[in-house]
Amino acid sequence: MKKLWGGRFKGSTNKQCEDYTASIQVDKRLYAYDIAGSIAHATMLAKSRIISKKEAAGIKAGLKSILKEIEAGKFIFKQTDEDIHMAIEKKLIAKIGPVGEKLHTARSRNDQVLLDVRLFLRSETEDIIKGIAQLQKVLLNVAEKNIKVVMPGYTHMQHAQPILFSHYIMAYYYMLKRDKARFAECLGRTNVLPLGVGALAGVNYPVRREFTAKLLNFPKVSENSVDTVSDRDFIIEFLAVSSILIMHLSRLAEELVLWSSSEFEFVELADAFCTGSSIMPQKKNPDVAELIRGKSGKIYGNLMALLTLLKGLPLSYNRDLQEDKGPLFDTVDTVNDTLAITGELVRTMKVCSNNMAQKIAKGLMEATDIADYLVLKGIPFRQAHFVVGSLVKYCLEQHKDFHDLKLAEYRQFSPKFNQDIFSFIKIENCLKRKKSTGGTAPLQVLAGIKKEQKELS
Ligand code: ARG
Repeated sequence: MKKLWGGRFKGSTNKQCEDYTASIQVDKRLYAYDIAGSIAHATMLAKSRIISKKEAAGIKAGLKSILKEIEAGKFIFKQTDEDIHMAIEKKLIAKIGPVGEKLHTARSRNDQVLLDVRLFLRSETEDIIKGIAQLQKVLLNVAEKNIKVVMPGYTHMQHAQPILFSHYIMAYYYMLKRDKARFAECLGRTNVLPLGVGALAGVNYPVRREFTAKLLNFPKVSENSVDTVSDRDFIIEFLAVSSILIMHLSRLAEELVLWSSSEFEFVELADAFCTGSSIMPQKKNPDVAELIRGKSGKIYGNLMALLTLLKGLPLSYNRDLQEDKGPLFDTVDTVNDTLAITGELVRTMKVCSNNMAQKIAKGLMEATDIADYLVLKGIPFRQAHFVVGSLVKYCLEQHKDFHDLKLAEYRQFSPKFNQDIFSFIKIENCLKRKKSTGGTAPLQVLAGIKKEQKELS
């Protein structure tokens, strides 16, 4: 099989070498971007009078028919064609003859591959940003619908203070908001035209890179040819931002695993998103949540793969860099799928407010509020903390809750306790008082939900 680069070779390529170096089965996914890039390149070559208008027209028509062929599933991706760039160029030459051989003027595969990847990642990042917004909408709906639900808040996985379930859900909303901003930020660094720098040094033709950039909607053109073909940090950044996102989703997934267990029973996951056990007939397993949690492993791994690939690699293009695509594609697919299914899992779950209320009733979670009550009556906080600590000890010994105590019992611990303690420690009052900015006071949480709904739509 004759190679497009075969001129200087006497012998033919070893089959093992061909298989080992080929990337076509992975990078064929970039075909549409490769063709769009080549069409823009041919247009620019004609505009700059490097090829004639007629030649460019022939090339573009050929490329378009190849696109149709691929989309109709009629294109055969051959290992001998090495990668998607070679496969398409070879096909073009076979289709339109020697004019096709002019397409690669003033271009190298080194800048071409980056163009394809940047176009691909730009489009995927835009989709991921939409996917995050979609999940944020689900969270906002769940938060709004359950605005009356109170749950035990935890620190150290121990009962801490009552909070609104919506407030908790909104915590994830805000994480996603930052994730979205991070993707938008790295999109800016992806959205730079690499084409026109050639192999590494620039090209000998009067190319108009700004023109190509305009055709392909790139607001910027890369500034250093060596850097351009060496750079994969826009991919690393994407993988890093994806890792943070998946880390957030893994925490939410973990909560769902816990909350849906018999120990908690705070939520019930929909049958449609759970699976059974092959041996234990009673089981309903939260596999989707577990897998969301589990997928984070390979997403971090993909980031590590690229960081390691680039570490100590001399400039400029080295074939090692071909290994960037597998991890990138895997992360893109996993992130897209994970965002979508997380949305469905959360949207379809049932929130079991009664079970949460039962935990709160027995949790002594009003303790901090009681300390604050004493502070309001003039006792320094550290003293109040100690008094309530003793009160807690008493409750535990007596198997009582704060609400079971008589005023006389309270007064054994401090004469500052009055009848008003009973309404002070009502859960709704504990919540209402948490109106410091960002706190769980219901009016505030609702206002936050409304504000974000507006912002999202
Ligand atoms: N398949 C190659 C890659 O993905 C394309 C660039 C090849 N360049 C080269 N000089 N062999 O990196």
